[in-house]
Order: sequence, then structure tokens, then C-alpha cells
Amino acid sequence: MKNCAIALLLFSFLQPCLAQDISIIPLPSKITTEKGSFIINNKTQIVLAGSGLEESANFLNDYLHQFFGMQLKVVKKAENKNNIVLNYDRIDHPIAGAYHMHVNKDAIFISGDNAAGTFYGIQTLIQLLPTAKSSAISVPFVSIEDQPRFAYRGMHLDVGRHFFPVDYIKKYINFIAMHKMNTFQWHLTEDQGWRIEIKKYPKLTAIGGFRNGTIVGRFPGKTNDGIRYGGFYTQEEIKEVVKYASERFVTVIPEIELPGHASAAIAAYPQLSCFPDSSTKHPLKSPWAGSTDGKQVQQTWGVFEDVFAPTDYTFHFLQDVLDEVLALFPSKYIHIGGDECPKAAWKKSAFCQQLIKDNNLKDEHGLQSYFIQKIEKYLNGKGRQIIGWDEILEGGLAPNAAVMSWRGEQGGIAAAKQKHVVIMTPTSGVYFDYTQTKHEDSVTIGGYLTVQKVYAYEPIPKELTKEEEQYIIGAQANLWTEYIANTKKLEYMLFPRMTALSEVLWSGKEQKDWTNFEKRLQQQFKRYEFWNWNYSKAVLDPTSKLADNASENIVFKNK
Ligand code: ACM
Repeated sequence: MKNCAIALLLFSFLQPCLAQDISIIPLPSKITTEKGSFIINNKTQIVLAGSGLEESANFLNDYLHQFFGMQLKVVKKAENKNNIVLNYDRIDHPIAGAYHMHVNKDAIFISGDNAAGTFYGIQTLIQLLPTAKSSAISVPFVSIEDQPRFAYRGMHLDVGRHFFPVDYIKKYINFIAMHKMNTFQWHLTEDQGWRIEIKKYPKLTAIGGFRNGTIVGRFPGKTNDGIRYGGFYTQEEIKEVVKYASERFVTVIPEIELPGHASAAIAAYPQLSCFPDSSTKHPLKSPWAGSTDGKQVQQTWGVFEDVFAPTDYTFHFLQDVLDEVLALFPSKYIHIGGDECPKAAWKKSAFCQQLIKDNNLKDEHGLQSYFIQKIEKYLNGKGRQIIGWDEILEGGLAPNAAVMSWRGEQGGIAAAKQKHVVIMTPTSGVYFDYTQTKHEDSVTIGGYLTVQKVYAYEPIPKELTKEEEQYIIGAQANLWTEYIANTKKLEYMLFPRMTALSEVLWSGKEQKDWTNFEKRLQQQFKRYEFWNWNYSKAVLDPTSKLADNASENIVFKNK
């Protein structure tokens, strides 16, 4: 590479030995190339021509340091040629993040419509750099115009079933940022673990943060490992993550599940249940470790009947919890779950039945709606909006709620027709816990979702009118971690499907072209290797395909 660089300086016509193929994902709206390359070396300076662009400069410098052992001087004014100039350019794209880039022999110019745009220009620049260590880094002469298609470009991570430490959450945020995505939904509470420190209720993490064992193998499990498992994030750690994310233009949306998926909270504070004195039930076919007396954190996967009771005690508790959550997360949206809440306990509870009568509710679905609306009112009063999974449509949508459509697209279509904001996240297009190949080497939840299928996913359903389409603000992939216990597996499930989704969410619909994407994916594989990110090679294996109807057997995933 070094010899090549010298050759380039002497004989510019030799530049093809240095210039990388231009292979950017997500695909920019316009790329024009010219012969020649700019060389980034130790003398190159980053010029902050616009104010407030330090985050982009820092990100680039960290990247160059980590992968090329290089640290560039950051200056306010160009001292000579050989610069990377960060600035603004008025593009007036309705969605934040548009940018222009121009590379010539003197400089690399990156100009964003706003600070996010400049940051995304840096991500494009990173994809123009070599995928091997080098002391002189060549960047091909290129002009790029680029802008995002959707405002909401999200990734979710379930840290309830399996816990991932703060350092890895930061890496996950880098995955998001480097794909020009902008939202991280942090699924913080589950039946199998409560993961956020709440100072007023310390037992939530002391008791609810740990389980006495975990089933081994696919549900219902062959055995139970009997290993105490858990962990949680302190409030200081959460602040650190939120700040780290904001420096990368990623909004963190916390998810506090209610009224279902609440076993861990109930184990900590049994009064949250309709039946505080009844011991926790679990499917008898799932092996259990330790005591079964009293309320317990769940050790197996699925949906459990012990859910929050709609009492004053519970609403005070949830308001207290949310007060602490709001102080940590500045996001406009707070995700309140709302999915998979069995109604059996509410059916049996005399208190719930009386509440249904007193409030003229139709049934237990009406009670779920009553529950969500009370929480929505509280959060709206604090200036925030709720997002819920599509079950919140049942019994009537809370007036200002945004809906995440996961059981297919019907929930999203219905919500958009009612003029509610929608984020599409259907199992059929974006559930990254699903199987990718016939040859999985470890257990997955089932389903079948190839990278081709993710790439083909279109977030705007045909059923909507132009007016209704506006309510679909984007899409998100979900990563549930029942069968994802380590980071190697996590990355294997993410990549390359997340890379495909980034293009669905960023690039123009008319640009979609699988053959072209597949070509660019080859370069992306080299990047994953250079970055030490694990990934699935199923797309390279012609024998990996499951029968086409494999997914038809899976209607909802067995969460
Ligand atoms: C979900 O997968 N239960 C939202």
C-alpha cells in the first residue's frame, strides 16, 4: 500500500491501484466520479468551517485513530491545502440529515443541511476509505448528493432476556450511526429481568434484575442451566449512553413494558399483581431452577398471565418510575410496550371487574385501553408522547399515541387511517431474531427472514392514500434476545440484514435494486471484517434457502 501511495504521488495515472471501488450503503441519491484520489496523511487537517460540527470531527478522528493509527489536527481555519472541510450547505430537505460531499486534489468538502447531515457525510467518507491498514489513505475524487427518505430509522434491542453491558450498548449505537440510522429503542424491562435502576424502588434491580436460571435450548427448554443471571444499568450509565448516542445523532427511546411482560417488576413488588399472594406460574414443561414459592423472575420465554393490576398502587408506582425515566431520557417518545398482555388475571379479579363496570368499559380490552390512556395522559402532561405496540389499538387507541406495527402491517394501516403516527416493524420484514438460513449453527426463535426479504421490504403499505402515507414516519428492526446470549451471535443476527434495512430507510424507493445492492454488499463484508463485526454469510450460500413457505408457519413469534 505504501509503495502504491508513492507511485500515486509520482504518477497520478497509476491511481487505480489505490482507489477503492465506490460502494456506499445506503446508496446515495447521486454520485459522480472523476479520475484521481485525495490522500489523507498525517498532515491533513480537519477544518471546522461551520460551528457546532465538533462531533463529526471527533467521530472521524476516532475512526482514523482506531483503524489507521492516525490523528488529524482540528482547526477552525484552513492553514494550507490538504484538508477535510466540514461545513453547512443549505439543502432544505424536509428530513434532517441531507449532505453534499466533494473530493478533489486539495480537499474533501462535506457540507450538511444541518449537523446531522455533516455527520452522515462523515459516514460516507468512512465508506470511501480502504478496508486495510495503511499510512496514506486514498479517497477517490467524487461528488455526492444525498438525503434520507424516512425520518425514523430505528433499531431495537431487548436487554431483558439477555443483558449487554454499557460498552457494548455503545458499540450497538455505533452500528446504528454508521448505517445513517437515528433511533435506538432500548427495551429495558421484561419478565426475565428489569434492567434500569429506579432509585425510589431499589428492589426492581436488586430482585427483578436477576433470575435463578435460564432454560437451555428452544422453548420449552431441555434443561435449566441453574445459573443466576442478570444485571442492570445504573442511572449514571444510562446518562452516559444517552450522551454518547446524541453525539452520534441517535435518539434513545426507552421502553418500559406495561401492563404485560411485568413478571420481574412483580417479583420485586408483588403488590403490582392482581393476586399478590399467589406464587408465580411458569409453563410446567419448562425446567425451573430454585424456589417456586412467591413471586419469581421468569426463567423461560413466552407470555405470562401475571400482569400489572390497574390499581392506584400500580399507577403511582408507574408514575414514579416514569418520572425517573423522563429525567434520564430527553426523547419526545417514551415506549410503553402494551403488547401481549393476557387478560386472564383481570378476568378473575373482582377488583378489575368492578373497575370495568364503574368506568363503563366494554371488557378487558377496554381495560387495557383505560390503562394505556391513563399512562398516556400522565406522559402527555410531562410534554412527552407514547409509542405502543399495535395491541394498543384493541379497545381504542389513546388519543395521541404512536403505533409500532409488529403483527404484520394491519395495525399500522389502521392507525394511519386514524391519523396516528406509525412506525412499521412487522415480523415479516424486520424481525432480526428470525432464522436466516437452513444451516443455523445455534437455536433461533424460528420464522424465516433473509437479507433479500429485508431489502425488499417497503414500509409504506399500498392500502394507504397519499394523505395517510404521511403518518408512516419510518421503520425499525427488532432484536429480541431469547436466543442471543453473546455479542458474536448478536452481530451474526444483525448483519447484513441491518445493512439492507439502512438502505430501505435512507435511499429512494426508485433506487432499489437487489443485484446492485448485492454487489455493494461484497465490499461491506470486507468492512465488517476490517471492523471486526461478525456477520452471517447465508447470502453467499446457495444451499441456505429454507422452503419458501417456511415463514407461513410462524404467525407471531413466540416471545
Ligand atoms: C413483540 O414482538 N411482542 C412486540
